[in-house]
Amino acid sequence: MSENVLITGGTGFIGKYLTELLIANGFSVSVLSRSERKNTDFVTYYKWNLKQNYIDENAILNADYIIHLAGEGIVEKRWTNNRKKAILESRTKPIELIYAILQKNNKTVKGFVSASAIGIYGAVTSQKICTEYTLPANDFLGITCQIWEDTVDKIGSLGIRTVKIRTGIVLGKDEGFLKKVAPSFKAGFGSILGSGKQYLPWIHINDLTKIYLKAITDTHMHGPYNAVVTDNTTNLTFSRILANLYGYSIWLPKVPKFILKVVLGEMSVAVLKGQRVSSEKITKEGFEFQFTDIETALSDCIK
Ligand SMILES: NC(=O)c1ccc[n+]([C@@H]2O[C@H](COP(=O)([O-])OP(=O)(O)OC[C@H]3O[C@@H](n4cnc5c(N)ncnc54)[C@H](OP(=O)(O)O)[C@@H]3O)[C@@H](O)[C@H]2O)c1
Repeated sequence: MSENVLITGGTGFIGKYLTELLIANGFSVSVLSRSERKNTDFVTYYKWNLKQNYIDENAILNADYIIHLAGEGIVEKRWTNNRKKAILESRTKPIELIYAILQKNNKTVKGFVSASAIGIYGAVTSQKICTEYTLPANDFLGITCQIWEDTVDKIGSLGIRTVKIRTGIVLGKDEGFLKKVAPSFKAGFGSILGSGKQYLPWIHINDLTKIYLKAITDTHMHGPYNAVVTDNTTNLTFSRILANLYGYSIWLPKVPKFILKVVLGEMSVAVLKGQRVSSEKITKEGFEFQFTDIETALSDCIK
């Protein structure tokens, strides 16, 4: 019988692509979702309700591996105090619930892999290259990612191998970051945000899902891994290339910082700041990126 991978939040952008890859590699997939969904030949859906501390325990009891992707969108709405709380708790509470079920049933899994984000290194632009040894930043994203990862360690305390995928901006067709920015570029109104000098560490969705696959099958993998291409792409390069792919050169002036701050509030740091991030640890583990050139990656996503 095939091994089962349970994906929390598996209905989202990364989850959908990952489900396909796992099935193609002979796994059966289960998904924990807040909404009722119909099972398919390859995917079994289980329901949970985090507000009511409810989770269908069978999802956990049938799992050989768990991949935790669930969480409120980080840049969907302005960062009010309530929103910040929701962003954090939608990531940590599921882990607490899963921990309680594993412990209560004396159940183990072969690996627990959680999403994390390069936001752990903070909303800063500098020449420093962040590695997995760089300390978490003391700002909202830094603190949120640190608590998220610390909660994953609770699962590790049960003797389960845990891996944290510190993800950069994921590029995929009509999904995630490109779903937000591509329409304005396609319409000819693309522009550079702020100074444009902020780094934009990215990864193509095909590479990210392969990293998740490796994280469950490669028992050497343990702890945090940066999932980005280390090519020093900035917002300026990204924007120019995207506009070129749509057949024009950027003609609009840069969007000034103060406008983004007025429109997005504190969340504006997510687009106005960006660090350089190293992917050396994952490549040393033998991972080979398919997409290492931003133009090729963007071209693949918008074709
Ligand atoms: N995409 C990126 O560029 C990127 C970059 C860095 C890190 N990440 C991280 O990777 C993970 C997956 O990202 P994604 O792009 O696939 O996200 P996504 O498309 O927004 O999907 C996340 C899924 O989480 C579930 N969810 C949303 N709010 C929830 C809540 N309050 N409680 C429980 N479940 C909730 C939803 O599933 P249901 O509606 O079915 O419950 C949703 O489909 C996230 O933790 C994200 O922060 C993503």
